[in-house]
Amino acid sequence: MSDPYFQQLFAERIGGVNYGKGTEIYKFEKIKRAKRKALADFPNRLLVDFGIGENDSMAPENVRAALTAEVNKPENRGYMDNGNQRFKEAAAAFMQRNFGVKLDPNTQVNHCIGSKPALAMIPACFINPGDVTLMTVPGYPVAGTHTRYYGGNVFRLPLLAQNNFYPDFKSIPADIWTKVKLLVINYPNSPTGKTATKEFYEQVVSLAKEKNFVVVQDAAHSLLSYDQKPSSFLQTPGAMDVGVEVHSLSKGFDMIGWRIGWVCGHERIVRAFSDVKDNSDSGQFGAIQNAAAAALDDDSIHERTRTKYKRRLEKLVAMLTRCGFNCKMPGGTYFLYTPAPSGLKDGTKFANAEEASQFLITQLSIVTVPWDDAGAFLRFSVTYEAADEAAEDALMAAAEDRLKGCGVQFS
Ligand SMILES: Cc1ncc(COP(=O)(O)O)c(C=O)c1O
Repeated sequence: MSDPYFQQLFAERIGGVNYGKGTEIYKFEKIKRAKRKALADFPNRLLVDFGIGENDSMAPENVRAALTAEVNKPENRGYMDNGNQRFKEAAAAFMQRNFGVKLDPNTQVNHCIGSKPALAMIPACFINPGDVTLMTVPGYPVAGTHTRYYGGNVFRLPLLAQNNFYPDFKSIPADIWTKVKLLVINYPNSPTGKTATKEFYEQVVSLAKEKNFVVVQDAAHSLLSYDQKPSSFLQTPGAMDVGVEVHSLSKGFDMIGWRIGWVCGHERIVRAFSDVKDNSDSGQFGAIQNAAAAALDDDSIHERTRTKYKRRLEKLVAMLTRCGFNCKMPGGTYFLYTPAPSGLKDGTKFANAEEASQFLITQLSIVTVPWDDAGAFLRFSVTYEAADEAAEDALMAAAEDRLKGCGVQFS
């Protein structure tokens, strides 16, 4: 295909004149292709899909019923700008009830069309060219991508097993500290499954005050916490002075496709976010905001979601342990992040997690997501489709049979 006349016009941030010409295949595309191959090669073998990063259930019935009623209300038809009062108040009440965090719904809470766009917009509030955002790796990269779009730089903080999967702030050189404006953290952490301790959050608050940066805590998985009660960064003394927390109804409420969440915390940061947002979108549909408010009012929803994914993770950890994996129950999220096998009993060797993952998909029809950013790890998600507990057990049994058959080895 010949270049269009505007090929020279693409911005450098997306590749400039070379935009659209790359031949590199990205990780998730490789997984998709391997899945297609497994389905073609073994059409009669059940694909055990631990690769999906999305809830497997629809939003609860009462929330869908609320949406149905709200859709027919004329007052919901128009632009919602920075959000309606019902949602702000429900979010503030949710934070108070679940975490004891008191927020002014009018100044300290602003909705977002899912937490992804909020994480994309927050760098616009702080990043000038040359400024630095600290990002944990592996992790959700959106705030880092937008930091670069604004001419800033990302300093990567690897989450290593030897540091118990927490970032090592001592690894940050002095010349970087002078440029740091944002620290993005994410607890419970995706993909490592680590939850934050009180002490860790306290360290973050005191470091933010000492070094003068803003903290953005991505709480997308906050309600999926197993080794401790779900918590909020804003419970930490002083946290409200240094940052914001970004919440989402996607995971805990099975509302991924509904695109709704909120940013809360320091009033001035929430205001800056709402100013950028006001120049980017016109708010989520009012009917969705009101149905989401009904979901936030009902704590039994996230309790059920948590119970289900905890049960599935326990089954997964037990099964993988029987197969030789060295894994333990994650603190939170619906992911298990565990060292990738280095080979098989027949002498096959895997150079990295990606090779191990490709083998599992194409030869055993078991889908996982590889991470090679900070050691070789596989991410198993328990968001597979299974109608009931018997179906969950059948999937575990199928995976166990295949994994034991090839004898995964760990060096
Ligand atoms: C760590 C993390 N943060 C944020 C998001 C974005 O979630 P949403 O935009 O659905 O609220 C995700 C989604 O997968 C995530 O895993």
